[in-house]
Amino acid sequence: MKKFSVVIAGGGSTFTPGIVMMMLDNMDRFPMRELVLYDNDEERQAQLGEALEILLKEQAPDLKFSYTTNPKVAFTNKDFCMAHIRVGKYEMREKDEKVPLRHGVVGQETCGPGGIAYGMRSITGMLEIIDYMEKYSPNCWMLNYSNPAAIVAEACRVLRPDSKVLNICDMPVGTLRRMSQIIEKDPADLEVRYFGLNHFGWWTSIKDKEGHEYIDQIRDYVAENGYLTKVEVDTQHMDQSWQETHKKAKDLLAVNPSYLPNTYLKYYLYPDYEVAHSNVEYTRANEVMNGREKEVFTAARNIIEKGTAVDGGFHIDSHASFIVDLARAIAFNTHERMLMIVENNGAIANFPDDAMVEVPCIVGNDGPEPLAQGKIPPFEQAMMFQQVTVEKLVVEAYIEGSYQKLWQALTLSKTVPSAKVAKDVLDDLIEVNREYWPELR
Ligand code: NAD
Ligand code: LMR
Repeated sequence: MKKFSVVIAGGGSTFTPGIVMMMLDNMDRFPMRELVLYDNDEERQAQLGEALEILLKEQAPDLKFSYTTNPKVAFTNKDFCMAHIRVGKYEMREKDEKVPLRHGVVGQETCGPGGIAYGMRSITGMLEIIDYMEKYSPNCWMLNYSNPAAIVAEACRVLRPDSKVLNICDMPVGTLRRMSQIIEKDPADLEVRYFGLNHFGWWTSIKDKEGHEYIDQIRDYVAENGYLTKVEVDTQHMDQSWQETHKKAKDLLAVNPSYLPNTYLKYYLYPDYEVAHSNVEYTRANEVMNGREKEVFTAARNIIEKGTAVDGGFHIDSHASFIVDLARAIAFNTHERMLMIVENNGAIANFPDDAMVEVPCIVGNDGPEPLAQGKIPPFEQAMMFQQVTVEKLVVEAYIEGSYQKLWQALTLSKTVPSAKVAKDVLDDLIEVNREYWPELR
């Protein structure tokens, strides 16, 4: 079997050790000859890089491994780039969440004004790494799961239409694992129908390979419990705030009991509830900084001090194996069925062709082929049209340096009550993002 050369962009991410260990665990399905970590933060990269070097010497001595902040070294001779960057890191995520909350508006990293602010930062970072990839390895594919994926995907559509960038999200994967737990099935045996935007969609069918439909059974469970399951099925979305989110799916389902909702819809359907149940002094960014970030970097320090990764505290992120499934689909033309963020082009019949939507696709070595989901009802269509217009306005505002369009984007977001509040939030976001956003006029 061919062996691949891979770069992870955002090599200093809290997710890097778990993903590297997951890839090691999948070497029989996706063999690697070289793995390089790339980040633009030298100190952060060195901490995880040094610890992973020790781990890989012990667990995969034949794999050529390095870490770097040099784009030429990182991106030369690569087959795949796994991208998970966070422009501005947790310091800026905290501001994305707290600035809107101070105005009584949802403070979330990918939804509402926080997602818009993060999007305006991410576009620059994403274009930078796409351009490095194309310069040093023109045949390389980027598997991108950097957020906010909806805005990033729209920016790629407009600004890098021919680039080999695939945008994918782990949230539907995690929720499907919960659904499979509810019906006591293996998630690999389930096929779904789904339509929406990223962090904004609905499942319309959950069938096994024999064609048996489970949506009613899952709906009855979710109507009582949300997606909270008795057994822990997801290694990522487990913190207390996520448990609340899984539970809240019950109230999302109540709005339209025909479909199973993506959990992120809570920020659009119940923004007042979310604000009332947020603590502006301690948001999800603080929870992650005191949790996942601290744990990962403490584990790295311990491995480096001890000189061994045995019992070292890095844990395999098995839920991230969808990334290997995607790489395999491209590399080995597996025609795997996966939810991807792609240009609509008729997949949702009554939605604009040029919208970036999230739908099931068959993925082979030419990339994803979207599966037709038919017409969607007016309620979901209208919600999606409002939200996709927000995302398009953000990208236009970025390109044109337009204050007006960014103000319109915030005003149109279902999470923001008025143009006045939108302007107040925007002006504060501009202030804290000066280092990252293009200048707006
Ligand atoms: P993190 O801050 O721990 O890591 C991000 C890393 O990216 C940092 O080390 C930072 O220095 C680096 N970085 C920033 N800009 C860069 C650039 N231009 N070039 C190279 N490196 C750059 O963040 P995290 O919590 O580990 O999340 C990483 C990313 O993965 C985020 O975008 C997050 O939203 C995303 N994520 C996506 C999914 C999904 O399935 N879509 C799931 C979880 C996390
Ligand atoms: C978070 O920390 O909540 C986000 O980065 C999303 C996630 O999946 O953990």
